[in-house]
Amino acid sequence: MASLARIEAKEAGEAEAAKAAQKAQQEAVQTQIAAAVDAAVAEERAKSEGNGASQAAAAGDGGGNVAPDIDWNSVAATDLTLFYPGQASFEWVQNGKTHGGARPLTKGGDACTTCHEKEIEAIGTKIVAGGEIEPTPIPGKRGTINASIQAAHDEESLYVRIQWPDGGHNPAPFVDGGKMDPDNQIKVAMMITGTGIEMGETTGCWSSCHADNTYMPFDPGAEAIAANADVAAQLEAKETITKYLTESRTKVEVKGRRGKAQGGWDKLKTADEIDQLLADGTFLDLLRVYADGTASNGYLLDRRVANDGEMSAEANLSGGVWTVVFARPLASGAPGDVPLEPGKTYTVGFAIHDDFAAARFHHVTLNTSFALDDDAAQINVIKQ
Ligand code: HEC
Repeated sequence: MASLARIEAKEAGEAEAAKAAQKAQQEAVQTQIAAAVDAAVAEERAKSEGNGASQAAAAGDGGGNVAPDIDWNSVAATDLTLFYPGQASFEWVQNGKTHGGARPLTKGGDACTTCHEKEIEAIGTKIVAGGEIEPTPIPGKRGTINASIQAAHDEESLYVRIQWPDGGHNPAPFVDGGKMDPDNQIKVAMMITGTGIEMGETTGCWSSCHADNTYMPFDPGAEAIAANADVAAQLEAKETITKYLTESRTKVEVKGRRGKAQGGWDKLKTADEIDQLLADGTFLDLLRVYADGTASNGYLLDRRVANDGEMSAEANLSGGVWTVVFARPLASGAPGDVPLEPGKTYTVGFAIHDDFAAARFHHVTLNTSFALDDDAAQINVIKQ
């Protein structure tokens, strides 16, 4: 009994220390963001007029071009840790052979955060170093990114601001020049879970991350894709398979018994069935911002679709801190846009492609709750 008590005390002490370390790190990030904001404001004042001003406004107190009427100083920030997930696919998390939490996740209704909220730091640091779910590690890449997220709305639109410290450059050894996407030092994505998606609320983005996507272990390769002309045509796929929802397939192999490939890229439902799913709201809304501040509003269903939905954005790096702001209508009515309504709680996920990364070499949140004017949600979208 005495030794059990000792172990328990030791574990409690360790948990306390980990919590304190995380808090200190988040405070350091806040300090860095505040310094970058001060620098941007000073820069703006120093310049009588012209260039630089809109950039400074985006980082500083003012709303910038995308959210000119939002006073970000009065919008509470949510500190989220994004971690590096490697090849931990939707199949991988559901398979008891690979993932300790598979059964409570698939049968018990647990969410990723039920088990992992407190250890995201440790998971990211472990995976990024290389191993079973990261066969091609990038030396020096960080395991986690501490981001600060704010969200606001007015009568028409949603506004989101996300800030995080730049991490410097660590070349990817498996691409020429070390940059997977040389045109984009960073990209930001927000996904909003639609309706009728199995485990959509509990797993967030994971419902679209499959073992046969780009750079994943069961990527079928260009030849196999070309050999299946009908599917390739419907998916507009050439080299690789984009993210998709299990609901868009007749079968997705999870366990991979007897050497079966995991995933279901080629078990595509008919175009009519896909149209029906879209009409029913069964998709992940996908909002994307690029390093130059351009944006694309799309969705994930049978594949990644850019639907040219309304969206505006800006992105800049100032004082070592990235600031990305984007806006979209709360309820555009367009297919592929999840309408955001008061009184509802949504599951969202954020992804940052840091340091010229592409495809799965990003940092992501677990399932994150998001609601208009509701402080019970992790991200409370405040009316301004
Ligand atoms: C019921 C609890 C539970 C749930 C729910 C759960 N997990 Fe896990 N997860 C575990 C356990 C247990 C392990 C193994 C822990 C270990 O090896 O230290 C694990 C390991 C992992 C790892 C590997 C960590 C490492 O150190 O290599 C990843 C990644 C992961 N889980 C992601 C997820 C994601 C994503 C979800 C949601 C889709 C999820 N988990 C849901 C319990 C859970």
